[in-house]
Amino acid sequence: MCGIVGYIGDKNGIDIVVKGLQRLEYRGYDSAGVAGISAGKIQIVKKNGRVDVLRQTVEDVKFSSHVGIGHTRWATHGEPSDINAHPHISHKGKVAIVHNGIIENYLSLKKELQKKGKVFLSETDSEVIAHLLEEVLENSAGDMIAALQIVQRTLVGAFAVVILSVDEPNLIYAIKKGTPLVLGIGKGENFLASDGTPLVQYTKSVIYIGDGEILRLSANDFQIYNSDIQEISHATSVLEMEMSMIEKDGYAHFMLKEIYEQPKTILDSMRGRIAADMSEVKLGGINNYAPQLYNANRYLFLACGTSYHAGMVARYVFEQLCRVSCEVDVASEFRYRKPVIHAGDAIFAISQSGETADTIVAIEEAKHHGANIFGICNVVGSTISRVSHEGAYTHAGVEIGVASTKAFTAQLTVLYLFALKIAQSKGTLTPAQIKQYCSELHAIPDQVSEILALSPQILEISKSLKDIHSMLFLGRGVQFPIALEGALKMKEITYIHAEGYAAGEMKHGPIALIDEFVPTVIIAIKDSNYLKVLSNIKEIKARKGKVIAIVNKGDDDIKGIADFCIEIPETSELLAPLLTTIPLQLLAYHTANVRGCDIDKPRNLAKSVTVE
Ligand code: G6P
Repeated sequence: MCGIVGYIGDKNGIDIVVKGLQRLEYRGYDSAGVAGISAGKIQIVKKNGRVDVLRQTVEDVKFSSHVGIGHTRWATHGEPSDINAHPHISHKGKVAIVHNGIIENYLSLKKELQKKGKVFLSETDSEVIAHLLEEVLENSAGDMIAALQIVQRTLVGAFAVVILSVDEPNLIYAIKKGTPLVLGIGKGENFLASDGTPLVQYTKSVIYIGDGEILRLSANDFQIYNSDIQEISHATSVLEMEMSMIEKDGYAHFMLKEIYEQPKTILDSMRGRIAADMSEVKLGGINNYAPQLYNANRYLFLACGTSYHAGMVARYVFEQLCRVSCEVDVASEFRYRKPVIHAGDAIFAISQSGETADTIVAIEEAKHHGANIFGICNVVGSTISRVSHEGAYTHAGVEIGVASTKAFTAQLTVLYLFALKIAQSKGTLTPAQIKQYCSELHAIPDQVSEILALSPQILEISKSLKDIHSMLFLGRGVQFPIALEGALKMKEITYIHAEGYAAGEMKHGPIALIDEFVPTVIIAIKDSNYLKVLSNIKEIKARKGKVIAIVNKGDDDIKGIADFCIEIPETSELLAPLLTTIPLQLLAYHTANVRGCDIDKPRNLAKSVTVE
């Protein structure tokens, strides 16, 4: 979703900010803009469409400023347009702001400000911040910190706001509540951004600005104040990111690069967490809350999108291995169904970005009722990792592709480790079973490499999907969530209507869709559901449906019936999602490619969804 970049130093801040916005493109956006100060005035260039259009325009007009703030906007209030793009400037042109988040009380504030004669140019909620700040500044004798304290207290909602003031051209200010903002500390120059990707090129020394804090930034210095305007100090953190992580490295798309990284990222997510002799799982991140985790009467998995599918897999795994009741919920639904939460419930909050607003709100609800929260996040230092009691990072590295791939398999890996750790502590698995699972988990990365080698065959299958409009994805048992994930990948990047279904439910509805134009992808590996899935394949074929089956190597029975078979290696039933998901990722990727879709920038989607 929206992204923010700020720069102050001796270089042309506009260039640096625009380059930073290009790094943030992966978050999803529809317009972009930049503001700087030149000739004693705030100048703004903003454009609907890609950052490249903005870059071209600022080059054409030779826009230059030692200070710059910029923004990529993902439309919420008001359509994507030049006018609605950020930055927004105040009525008298004193301040310009960029905002990430949502101002929930903007309508009442807007009405009050309009009564006072402020003219609004855009339909956004964000513009209210610029007018409000200018007004409060006038009443605070120009004291920006005092004004920002009032503005921060007046705004309801989530925000990271970065501000330029014409009266203080050598400073940038920022306030934050609930939406991430990172300060990058350079030499004679400083940076701000929504995440580390625009910063890593310049500095690895960062500070994560906290909620309710106010930042004043100059080229050589910064001060951070708490909400009572007392100056506070923050330890700097090291940005755990390399340039190679945010570049395509010869791959056609980030998504493809990330699919291919999985043998390594799965290994990284289990590195140091399985004893060398495979006899036990070690999770450093849960030391203080270990008893609460092992003794919980119930496990709940809360997440959105792909992470929700990881939670669904986890429910099957935890129930079977730990013999404890489990629930899984879409985070955006959780709070609003007034859930029954018992003190001591263990909640797994799963999130790649660690910034998903729906998941954060669900955590707040669960915490309020005394549940213990275990965060499973990919982004180090993210909000969810900080608001969780304990947890584990997935260590998949930066994921740029909007369609999540390597983060998903890393989440699964970490969830398996949690399940094994709990089963070990509860004694619901024997030491020999633990060893067997650990060894099989350890073998997964090589098996994933084997599946990746099938990419040319999967490309050929994708060509048969080029012109179809609708398809089904079926799986049974622990493969049901993988069918949902396969369908999600397909619809996200190819725009083909793809429906994921439990294979057993096919006869209760989706079978009506099947004909020669609606192909079915079905996970038909040799697990405990194999024979039932085989019957489903026959039912589809009897209705002239095309079948693309994911099968185990050497399965001649299905080969004789299905139109296409993708043969993958065997592992134990519960671990198999780590393998079956790989061909589905490749199938979606290649199909999007043959259809000419913009794979890394799928329409309307955002990588990090910071609004409810
Ligand atoms: C967005 C992304 C999805 C992602 C979901 C949850 O919708 O487009 O790919 O699965 O958010 O994100 P999270 O960062 O919480 O895993």
